[in-house]
Amino acid sequence: MSTEKLAQLIKKREEVILGGGQEKIDKHHSKGKYTARERINKLLDEGSFVELDQFVVHRGTAFGFDKVKAPGEGVVTGYGTVGGRLVYVFSQDFTVQGGSLGEMHAAKICKVMEMAVKNGAPCIGINDSGGARIQEGIDALNGYGRIFKLNTLASGVVPQLSVIMGPCAGGAVYSPALTDFIFMVDKCQMFITGPAVIQSVTGEVVTAEALGGARTHNTQSGNAHFYAATEDECIEQVKTLLSFLPSNNLETAPVFACDDPVERCDEALDSIIPDNPNKPYNMKDVITSIADNGYVFEVQEMYAKNIITAFIRLNGRSVGVIANQPSVGAGCLDINCSDKASRFIRLCDAFNIPILTCVDTPGYLPGVAQEHGGIIRHGAKLLYAYSEASVPLLVLITRKAYGGAYLAMCGKSLGADTAIAWPTAQIAVMGASGAANIVFAKEIKNSSNPDKTRAEKIAEYEEEFANPYKAAARGFVDLVIEPSKTRYYLCKSLDSLLGKRESRPAKKHGNIPL
Ligand code: HXC
Repeated sequence: MSTEKLAQLIKKREEVILGGGQEKIDKHHSKGKYTARERINKLLDEGSFVELDQFVVHRGTAFGFDKVKAPGEGVVTGYGTVGGRLVYVFSQDFTVQGGSLGEMHAAKICKVMEMAVKNGAPCIGINDSGGARIQEGIDALNGYGRIFKLNTLASGVVPQLSVIMGPCAGGAVYSPALTDFIFMVDKCQMFITGPAVIQSVTGEVVTAEALGGARTHNTQSGNAHFYAATEDECIEQVKTLLSFLPSNNLETAPVFACDDPVERCDEALDSIIPDNPNKPYNMKDVITSIADNGYVFEVQEMYAKNIITAFIRLNGRSVGVIANQPSVGAGCLDINCSDKASRFIRLCDAFNIPILTCVDTPGYLPGVAQEHGGIIRHGAKLLYAYSEASVPLLVLITRKAYGGAYLAMCGKSLGADTAIAWPTAQIAVMGASGAANIVFAKEIKNSSNPDKTRAEKIAEYEEEFANPYKAAARGFVDLVIEPSKTRYYLCKSLDSLLGKRESRPAKKHGNIPL
């Protein structure tokens, strides 16, 4: 081959790699941001990235756009490895036309999404874009539509991760919303309509950050799953999450060598439950104690904190944890935590990740706001998600498991494979004082000393029901164990369930209450 042709290739490639030019790259860096390519290089194993479609060009003509060069079409796409495992990636290049999305920009993204599904590998999208490319009009909208459709078809087939490292506004937010996880870096925003439009329509005055910043979406809206102060921190979070996930729905998550003995006991657990049943404790201490090397990777850590969703490993295997948090709102179930937990259950089930449910909840949160907000519909999601799940389901009841919430936290009748209880478990239709007040109302009312009678009846009810043995007598609890040995029994139970096979009736799809 002539050196001329090689030189031409190298020159063309260099032009693309320079994106919007050095000036724009410098401006981008000055905002503390990495470029699209730098982000990919930091995320992928060194030297593993293979870039596709470098020479794709746009076909826009309106407003003189035919004279405009957009090297790489404003998005870098391709594949590589993270921790040695294949992933597909697209990274929007803000230095090229503000990373705006036109017909061919979308086509590049769609190609890697299709390849990810075909080859069974996660797809990671790094978003940094001014949204639909205004000069391309309806072609840009069509591009978004294609992406949304592919997001939906890929859902439950390969993990889809969205990383927000720049603006993400208007309909553009819906691609991340359709994916499994949204990571947001501080000072990046997502919203449907920005502050100016909101002010003109409703009169509300709000800053972009308060409206749709990383903290807002992690703490208030629940749209985001991870918050990072910096891009570097965010990239580490993405890598960690990938280590807990399989590459696709036909595989299981990678198993890591475990140097933490399965038999490791933790005596502290024997006294973690306070004597007073209304006193809180931190469920995170329980999860940390159980997990391999105490490592817990929380998902939506800042949102609906009355329930914990997290990944841990048990003897090297990835496990999704859903746990009531008695130290936040007594661990009551409400609308937001039902949504948070249900989606996590479905994620784990779709990707063959066994689920551990840790139960200590007095029930669904009473209140007009909850009822009018649709707690019936939202709470039903938990029942639906557990009932539908066919992965190994482990349940650990540490204390309260009352009424509907007992069922909603993966009761045996919903499909729990192994239900383990501590001696402190109270599995009953409701708490002792509430029950005594209803069942013994007459005796208490007619008593010469109602307070004494009430206390006696509460004690009577506790003796009868506030323990794990009634449920164990029916086989609704499989094991009652010393809390210190929880890790051992969970690891053993998980081992016994790895071959679980459960089929479901054939159907187009179910109709989860949304
Ligand atoms: C074309 C765009 C663009 C867009 C930015 N640019 N957004 N070009 N279409 N949507 C270009 C700018 O003209 C500029 O070009 C370069 O990108 C950098 O933009 P700046 O404005 O200089 O950057 P900055 O000050 O950092 O502001 C970033 C921004 C702002 C906040 C994103 O550019 C902005 O508000 N853009 C428009 C956002 C928007 O309304 N998008 C449409 C949303 S509707 P030069 O040549 O000067 O470098 C939508 C519908 C999707 O997305 C529907 C799906 C169903």
